[in-house]
Amino acid sequence: MTAERARVTVFDTTLRDGEQSPGCSMNQQEKLRLAQQLDRLGVDVIEAGFPIASDGDFESVKAIAMTVRRPVIAGLCRACRPDIERAWEALQHAARPRIHVFLATSDIHLQYKLRITRDQCVHQAREAVAYAKSLCGDVEFSPEDATRTDPEFLCRVLEAVVEAGATTLNIPDTVGYTVPTEFAALITTIRQQVKGIENVTISAHCHNDLGMAVANALAAVGAGARQVECTINGIGERAGNASLEEIVMALRVRPDRYPYDTGVASEQIFAASQMLSDITGVPVQPNKAITGRNAFAHEAGIHQDGVLKNPLTYEIMTPKSVGVPDSKLVLGKHSGRHALGMRCEQLGYQFDRRALDDIYRRFVRLADKIKHVEDHHLLELIRDTHKPSTSATPLIEPISTPAAAVANLPVPAVEPGKPFPIPSAHVPPTTNAFGVPLPVAAESHHEQTQQEDYLWGV
Ligand code: KIV
Ligand code: ZN
Repeated sequence: MTAERARVTVFDTTLRDGEQSPGCSMNQQEKLRLAQQLDRLGVDVIEAGFPIASDGDFESVKAIAMTVRRPVIAGLCRACRPDIERAWEALQHAARPRIHVFLATSDIHLQYKLRITRDQCVHQAREAVAYAKSLCGDVEFSPEDATRTDPEFLCRVLEAVVEAGATTLNIPDTVGYTVPTEFAALITTIRQQVKGIENVTISAHCHNDLGMAVANALAAVGAGARQVECTINGIGERAGNASLEEIVMALRVRPDRYPYDTGVASEQIFAASQMLSDITGVPVQPNKAITGRNAFAHEAGIHQDGVLKNPLTYEIMTPKSVGVPDSKLVLGKHSGRHALGMRCEQLGYQFDRRALDDIYRRFVRLADKIKHVEDHHLLELIRDTHKPSTSATPLIEPISTPAAAVANLPVPAVEPGKPFPIPSAHVPPTTNAFGVPLPVAAESHHEQTQQEDYLWGV
């Protein structure tokens, strides 16, 4: 008999903490598109933004709340009424809204940033959570800079907000200072000392300043945290947040060490990573674990020989298990609509039939001119076809009309008759392609099963 495996909630904050990284800001339409991909990826919670921060952020959170219905949609606010009211205004139409309140608790933040005493901090946290709870059943509280907070005081604050109705306690390593053993011990202390803790979910929110965000998040899970906050490609403030794909694949590849499940469809990871990189223009570091273009590349002769004989020699997960396309098939002028559609999906774009027909016509014209259509060509072509215009045919998954109206989104449309632009030669190839020849998986996405993988431990 196999033991029951615990479920870890994946809280994606790409659209909030991730967007705070330099060069990663996104407009409303881009955020909505990424939120739809996060939904396909199967994350449990999408932190859609910080509604009081700007009108743009507010509108984005509102549009996502109205459009993306499966996951919980969270909005961040400081521990004060105006922030909470604004967040609730944006979130109230969500199928599953969550208000996320934060307040710093470390002495250094209380003294220099907030200029309040510890007692005032406890009071403010309690009041804010109680007010959020009067609006929304699902309330998360984060003691900012928790890892540099006196643990005894931290537990006092946490106990106050649990009493006030918080349902998730998120423990942020705001400055990326902690190390795995210390962070695990902190989670254990919280579990032992905070009254009422058994009724709430403990969450880990780790920054990567010392390169330990993923290790710290996993240590927290080992110590009893059941939510991890993370971002696609690990983007976020300064050195970034814990990377979603690294946490998820560590859990999948090493179930012997981490017997926990997530709801993430790992085959959608590559598409999410590519979409984010395409939207922000920030390339994925080539040696980035899981999603970097070298993550499955083998250069050394001995490695190549081994992998050809049996991929298990040097690969601990299949490229396919994270949605990296099969690189044996090449997109050229003989390729059909099915292959083209599949490739677009792998890059994070889903088209309806008419839109795909249009892309296909442009693709064939291009393939006539150049031998192999590579990812960056295809992305250029999609981007060109996808330029907002007033004509009618939606290009990406259509969003519902009321939501589109609320979001005030330009409807993406095909532009029949527009001459195909030859893609500029200087488009950086680093952002898109994984293998060199242009990859297309022959079989349907849904036919990708875990059984076909040679993941250790799966
Ligand atoms: O890093 C941090 O402390 C945060 C909180 C707002 C959760 O992002
Ligand atoms: Zn953060």
